[in-house]
Amino acid sequence: MVLLRQLLLLLPSVYLGASAQDRAQSVFVNSGSACCDALRAKLPSIVFARGTPEYNTRLTTYYSLQQQELSPTCTVRPNSASDVSLIVKIAKDSQCPFAVASGGHMAWKGSSNINEGFVVDLRRMNQVDVSTEDQTVKLGPGSNWQEVYKVMTPYNVSTAGARINAVGVGGYLLGGGIAFASVDKGFGADNVYNYEAVLSDGRIVEANKETNSDLFWALKLAGTNYAIVTRFDMYIYSSPTMWGAVTVYPFTKPTTSELFAQFEKYVHDEENRKDMIAVLLNHNNGMDVALSAQTNLDSNPLARMSSAEPIMHAEKVGTTHDVVDQVIAHALESTARTAWYVLTTKANTDFFMDLHAMGETIFEHLKDRKGFTRTFSFQAFQKSYIEGAVHGPTYNALKRSNDDLVCVLNFNTWEDPADDAAMEEATAALGDWAEVEARKRGILDDFIYLNYADERQPVYERSVTPEDLDKMREIQAKYDSDGTFEKFWKGGFKIPKKGSAGATGHDEL
Ligand SMILES: Cc1cc2nc3c(=O)[nH]c(=O)nc-3n(C[C@H](O)[C@H](O)[C@H](O)COP(=O)(O)OP(=O)(O)OC[C@H]3O[C@@H](n4cnc5c(N)ncnc54)[C@H](O)[C@@H]3O)c2cc1C
Ligand SMILES: *[C@@H]1O[C@H](CO)[C@@H](O)[C@H](O)[C@H]1NC(C)=O
Repeated sequence: MVLLRQLLLLLPSVYLGASAQDRAQSVFVNSGSACCDALRAKLPSIVFARGTPEYNTRLTTYYSLQQQELSPTCTVRPNSASDVSLIVKIAKDSQCPFAVASGGHMAWKGSSNINEGFVVDLRRMNQVDVSTEDQTVKLGPGSNWQEVYKVMTPYNVSTAGARINAVGVGGYLLGGGIAFASVDKGFGADNVYNYEAVLSDGRIVEANKETNSDLFWALKLAGTNYAIVTRFDMYIYSSPTMWGAVTVYPFTKPTTSELFAQFEKYVHDEENRKDMIAVLLNHNNGMDVALSAQTNLDSNPLARMSSAEPIMHAEKVGTTHDVVDQVIAHALESTARTAWYVLTTKANTDFFMDLHAMGETIFEHLKDRKGFTRTFSFQAFQKSYIEGAVHGPTYNALKRSNDDLVCVLNFNTWEDPADDAAMEEATAALGDWAEVEARKRGILDDFIYLNYADERQPVYERSVTPEDLDKMREIQAKYDSDGTFEKFWKGGFKIPKKGSAGATGHDEL
């Protein structure tokens, strides 16, 4: 007969003292050093310990300083899909927690980095192979968009990638992707026609409309649920040059009214398939400013959105690479301590202005903290954009509103780690206010854009219909059949279990 005490000794320590809910989900995990030793035994030349230059440069590529401060036991840098396959098998056999990082630009701590365990650093898988004959490009997950646009330049082509240099190919395309061409072509993910991916059993598969078509559909909002994608094959479009401008105005009521009037017109303009227009409201160094970002894919300059005298204006006709590098990059910092919150609403200037005012109120006690900035960005998900997403899991949810929508992002930055808790709390409070208020006004849409969401936001419950979510669960059960990714792949957004807490507590529009 086994004594209770002996039985307890057999249990992994994580079970002891865990809450009932944790216990159900707990699994035995090995220590970081045991895991890195297991990797080293099979892949000695691509495992990097703490303190090595390769390890350190991985950390510096994270956008958020909170992510940079996590400390994985080692990083592993695969060169090929077969390396990734071997890494996944080792993680599974040795029960190792790991995170996967491409460009490292997801904002919340732990989304693509980890304490202990290891990081699969995809940066070396950075192929960019353009085929002008097929009008396609094959992309490794580890490039950033600056590198992609640079390689594309001599071919006079572009693709539906990110609008800031250092954003990674991998994360961007697995969470959607808002691009210059999105009004016409939907999310970046909608422009992927084939994936090469490593499944949790180590198999390397292709997913497209014919082969593994269920996986192909689900990968367009994959998060960290289905596979480590080792190649994205995307459509490209002819683009010798484009036009882009960023204009910064002092924040005044008349100016913001003009900007939002133009923005609303753009959001509802059913003919427009060439422009991207975003409005940003920013508080920085004690000063409030309003920005417009405008682009046109035919290289036609657009009219200024306000008659006010700008504080700063940059514009250019150039390749996608040069417009991103020399114009659009002005709109954002390169690294920061940061907290984000995103929601989707109908176009409604009164609400946008009230949101800005509420931001001022909620952050009043924090406004003098070192390096504090508070930003709202407003971007369009027009009906044509939503139609572009027809082959992905968000389509049925997005089209429920039968309206043009606006993606509202709040991101705040600061310098002192001592301010983390207060800033994160204020960001959450502002986000909660915005949700409640937008719902009260009848303008809230359920959609939560994965790539801008905070860790605690219920992305899958809200951005996919219940029927489509069930489909996503079935596909997950098929491709991550023994739950290896569910158990050991940390970070990103996970498909919620059926009936779990987050799945309730919200109404339809
Ligand atoms: C400055 C800045 C500008 C931005 N601009 C845009 C923009 O123009 N448009 C837009 O839509 N979004 C934009 N974003 C948001 C951006 O799309 C997301 O942060 C995105 O997740 C970043 O991708 P990444 O590869 O850099 O991130 P990472 O942090 O490396 O990865 C993000 C998530 O994807 C997972 N992942 C990464 N690669 C793979 C892979 N190959 N297989 C499986 N899982 C993988 C990671 O595990 C993680 O969970 C911007 C963000 C920042 C900070
Ligand atoms: C790209 O465009 C430039 C300028 O219009 C032209 O000179 C060049 O030949 C083009 N290159 C290709 C590969 O089409």
